[in-house]
Amino acid sequence: MQLDDLYRRVIMDHYKNPRNRGTFADDAVTVNLNNPTCGDRISLQLKVKDGIVEDAKYSGDGCSISMSSASMMTEAIKGKSMEEALNLAERFSSLMQGEEQEFDEYEDIEALSGVNKFPARIKCATLAWNALRKGIDEDHKSQ
Ligand code: FES
Ligand code: FES
Repeated sequence: MQLDDLYRRVIMDHYKNPRNRGTFADDAVTVNLNNPTCGDRISLQLKVKDGIVEDAKYSGDGCSISMSSASMMTEAIKGKSMEEALNLAERFSSLMQGEEQEFDEYEDIEALSGVNKFPARIKCATLAWNALRKGIDEDHKSQ
């Protein structure tokens, strides 16, 4: 399958069948972030215990790329240590800059590299990951 087709299919799949969309009823590391270029926003919540992301949820109002990227990201970081999650965020940046081509077992995330053809939308794909970085940062500060 062409990357273009895969890219569209993956985005629509996560947009229509979002994974981890919602909010936690109790305490969680919460980050609210918006994309200044369009005003779309995301709220990311992380349940962290002993340095491990036990669970993650997101909510917000954004385009299909931003919301599907949040769906993929929350799936990928569950069960990961904060360091591993940060490492994934770094690699996602490389993917968005066209430096990294592969994303191991995360085929959906890899397909998001199709966004490279539409540079204006890279900020959409990156929004959730920036929220993740901020969440990791805030968790570290609270230790
Ligand atoms: Fe926000 Fe397109 S500018 S959805
Ligand atoms: Fe606003 Fe994509 S157009 S996040």
